[in-house]
Amino acid sequence: GPVVAVVVAAGSGSRLGAPVPKALVDLDGVPLVRRSVDALVAGGVTQVVVTIPDGLAAEFASALDGVAVPVRCIVGGETRQDSVRIGLAALDAPDDAVALVHDAARALVPAPVVTAVVASVVDGAQAVIPVVPVIDSIREVGDGDSRIVDREPLRAVQTPQAARLGALRGAHAAAAQAGAVVTDDAAVCELAGMRVTLVPGHRDALKITEPIDLALAGAILQTRNQ
Ligand code: CTP
Ligand code: MG
Repeated sequence: GPVVAVVVAAGSGSRLGAPVPKALVDLDGVPLVRRSVDALVAGGVTQVVVTIPDGLAAEFASALDGVAVPVRCIVGGETRQDSVRIGLAALDAPDDAVALVHDAARALVPAPVVTAVVASVVDGAQAVIPVVPVIDSIREVGDGDSRIVDREPLRAVQTPQAARLGALRGAHAAAAQAGAVVTDDAAVCELAGMRVTLVPGHRDALKITEPIDLALAGAILQTRNQ
């Protein structure tokens, strides 16, 4: 069946501090949003909706010119969660299509992570997220006090996250209705009573957030091209 995706790219990238929105920032000659969309297509995605900032339709159309599958750009919302809901509504596919949500900022996600997420939904998982171990030692702070947190059972959550399109739309509608604010789509699914399945993510799928992340992404690309 069809595998469709929302790529959320409507943020400004304030922490990166580039003169253009983060998704349009160049990484070795290719904008981040284009790298993200191409990675999804390499992983089997057949239709993409990209949420973009207001007033930049021409710039995004140019960045996405020539993508191998149909791509539509629509203006996103105030928060990432709003943008996801708007993007899901714009997808043209049946309720049982596999639907992915991906951060444009995770531009170097390897195609095998995308295919693993899709395969997990096809195998029957209700909601799927790629995760990686936490590297740093973690302390919890509060009240001028602090304590160590055992990092061994902790996982950092990446994208693409996936579910069936109808279920994902329903979960986002319910979260919006309830006024629930969460940072990822699996949390939205969990609120709707769906079970979350974890698959291995990859370090290369880091979310490019600060200037040091862009430098790291550049180094990852150089290693790939060797
Ligand atoms: N995003 C979106 N709509 C919003 C906010 C964020 O589509 N209203 C997207 C971003 O474009 C990004 C992804 O969600 O690809 C993850 O968000 P983040 O990394 O925080 O990006 P920004 O919000 O752009 O960055 P910052 O928080 O530093 O301003
Ligand atoms: Mg943000």
